[in-house]
Amino acid sequence: MAYDVVVIGSGPGGYSAAVRAGQYGLRTALIEKQPRLGGTCLLVGCIPTKTLLHTADVWEYFLDPQAQGIECENPTLNYPRVVDRKNKIVNKHSKGIEFLMRKNKVDVIKGTAKLLGGGRLEVTGGQGTQAVETKNIIVATGSEARMIPGLQPDANLILTNIEILDLTAVPGRLGIIGAGAVGVEFASIFNRFGSKVTVLEMLPRLVPVEDEEISKELEKHFKKIGIRCETGAKAENIRRNSNSVSLTVTLANGNKEEMEFDKLLVAVGRKPNTEGVGLENTSAQLDRGFIKVDGNQQTAEPHLYAIGDVVAGTPQLAHVATAEGMIAVAHIAGKPARPINRNRIPGATYTDPGIGSVGLTEAQARAQGFKVKVGKFPFVGNSKATILDKHEGFVKVIAEETFGEILGVHIIGPEGFELIAEAVTAMEAEATVETMMNTIHAHPTIYEAIGEAFNNVYGQAINI
Ligand code: NAI
Repeated sequence: MAYDVVVIGSGPGGYSAAVRAGQYGLRTALIEKQPRLGGTCLLVGCIPTKTLLHTADVWEYFLDPQAQGIECENPTLNYPRVVDRKNKIVNKHSKGIEFLMRKNKVDVIKGTAKLLGGGRLEVTGGQGTQAVETKNIIVATGSEARMIPGLQPDANLILTNIEILDLTAVPGRLGIIGAGAVGVEFASIFNRFGSKVTVLEMLPRLVPVEDEEISKELEKHFKKIGIRCETGAKAENIRRNSNSVSLTVTLANGNKEEMEFDKLLVAVGRKPNTEGVGLENTSAQLDRGFIKVDGNQQTAEPHLYAIGDVVAGTPQLAHVATAEGMIAVAHIAGKPARPINRNRIPGATYTDPGIGSVGLTEAQARAQGFKVKVGKFPFVGNSKATILDKHEGFVKVIAEETFGEILGVHIIGPEGFELIAEAVTAMEAEATVETMMNTIHAHPTIYEAIGEAFNNVYGQAINI
């Protein structure tokens, strides 16, 4: 049987595309080489890390229960049970995706897919090799952790996002190379679980893609809670000892320091999984391993689409993959769809305080020649933040002076990654600063801080 659509890869991009194709009544198959569905995000990325983060948030209150008026003698963190809970959540959701495939009449084919050209593929798995034919193909094969040249990860000393999720105990000294989302999220989690964490970043600031003030605020808080942050640092000569890892770090001031950790997490970016997929049998164009697509997610070969982490030019985020999947399937089904607007993609970094951002940073807005007006509001003026004991951070609105266009919103603070939703909707609906000033925010909520920041574009916040 020839399919209408075959999706390769069951991450959030791939499985969502398969569901949507099923909803449109297209004959659809989803090919996955891993035993479980869900891809990086569900199995070894977003979901397990946010589960650990939740436990860290809960545990944080137990570090000082008396501050909440709770008497509680010797609370302990049972780390194997923390990991067990994480595994149960991952399994539950993987089964959920299997259910969604059945519900939407998507055939799941287990095995490794290879493009043979045109609409032909071969899938190699437990039951040998089978031929599959289809009218359209969506490549959603994702990405894997990059490694520092010459280094290999293992289960014990030098870890990626995969191995660190299954540690049997909290490491005493955790070194982290790279202060992108992966690096700072694990720093935030393991610091609160009790590890002595050191973050080494080669660029001058943590979370370098964020607004500069966000980076400064995160570093300030990280230092306050005892995370050592070395930016502008170069790690070299990484050596495995019998039970630890040693490295030589050139610090920003030029001094060299020998460091030793019980575990080292390497979080220096991700490379696209485009090798071995058979792209050489197609006319798809690559850019440094990423697949080039147009606004419909179409490659240079009309029936061949790509979505998610393999795509050139869009950030490697689960929600981007999903959105791109919707566009590809709509195009296949002849339905209307809008290309991704890079400026309206929320960024969400799950640290504590949490980061959420959308649109231009202040520096980008100024570099693009906008007359910029900034409105800021700190969470110290927000009553719900006081109730939560989470006063760090602020909301920062970047607006255009003449018409009050919202150019960007940057949040660091309690649930910053959730709060950003309002700003994304505002920008999507092309609301102005004035619209947002007139939007009524419930009290007491942390998202009141957003209303206040918009008011402060004109110096009119109330609670500061
Ligand atoms: P990243 O590219 O976001 O950050 C890597 C960091 O490592 C950069 O700041 C880079 O300057 C630094 N770096 C690179 N080589 C280095 C070296 N030799 N020494 C010191 N620093 C070095 O990569 P990351 O954090 O691994 O994440 C991979 C992808 O997954 C990203 O696109 C990220 O956005 C995405 N992701 C998103 C999450 C979220 O949205 N919450 C969570 C986890 C990952």
